Amino acid sequence: MSRAGQSGGAATSGRDLVGLGGIDVALLKRLLASAKDIGAAWRGRSGARSAPGIGSPLAGRTIANLFFENSTRTRVSFTIAAQRLGAHVVDLSAAGSSVSKGETLSDTVRTIEAMGVDALIVRHASSGAAALAARAAAVPVLNAGDGSHEHPTQGLLDTLTVAEAHGRLDGFDLSGLRLAIVGDVLHSRVARSDIAAWTALGASVVCVGPPTLAPRTLEAMGVEVRHELDGVLGEVDVVQSLRVQFERAASLSSARDYAAAYQINAERLKRMKPSAVVMHPGPMNRGLEITGDAAEATDGPRGLILRQVENGVYVRMAALLWCLDAERA
Ligand code: NCD
Repeated sequence: MSRAGQSGGAATSGRDLVGLGGIDVALLKRLLASAKDIGAAWRGRSGARSAPGIGSPLAGRTIANLFFENSTRTRVSFTIAAQRLGAHVVDLSAAGSSVSKGETLSDTVRTIEAMGVDALIVRHASSGAAALAARAAAVPVLNAGDGSHEHPTQGLLDTLTVAEAHGRLDGFDLSGLRLAIVGDVLHSRVARSDIAAWTALGASVVCVGPPTLAPRTLEAMGVEVRHELDGVLGEVDVVQSLRVQFERAASLSSARDYAAAYQINAERLKRMKPSAVVMHPGPMNRGLEITGDAAEATDGPRGLILRQVENGVYVRMAALLWCLDAERA
């Protein structure tokens, strides 16, 4: 259960962002609108380090990255977001920390917190770890991905990217859009956060993959499940292609058969609506779930993968401001 919207702890004001499942739609829209405004202000700046309309609302605050699982883009994105708002950022990773000596997550959280940090960004291989950290911490906890549970800022940045691509930035109403999530849905925390946000905003969501990676049980989340991609492609406005998560026990009997059935490639782009867009949360297994030309396509169905990355910074700035109860200039 998401703790979004609830008070983070007795000692400090602020809130956790653990997941988008069950999030209040007004709050979801507020976070998206804030990210949209931050993006507009940032893109409109003229060389200044801080953009007009943003300022340094987190000056004097310290944010800690607690990454117990590998990450490139999410850690860097949170760091840039925090720094653009004026905060200091410290990094802890599991390798080289007391975690490798057997310290519990709760003890690590309390130890870092006792040093005077104002918020914790937590990534962990176990589903539920972010909620556990949020219970242990008095300061706000932002989930940067916990196992195959949720990745709420990725869900927000994907939603902002969909809304931008399809002209839904006023009000973020996604009704009438059909959004496909293709590939290893079962192991994907990104898929869970996307599904929560997209269904809450009125989109129709279809998950597509082999029965082992897109099982019918996903229907309980309010989505349609299909096992055949080519019949779906022409109907959808977005394809979000997912990485096959081999580190989370996904297995393929044949990579060649998987690619033949589910790879997003130039041939499949031709079957999509011209207005459709292709997304991928990264990192991409080029040549498996997606080809380079599909990822980078600029005419016809467009590849928006770097736009997702850019929007990630704006979304994380909005999330940090909300979690820390801070206002822009
Ligand atoms: C995703 C993640 O780590 O959950 N990547 C990301 O945050 N950009 C998706 C993935 O690892 O496949």
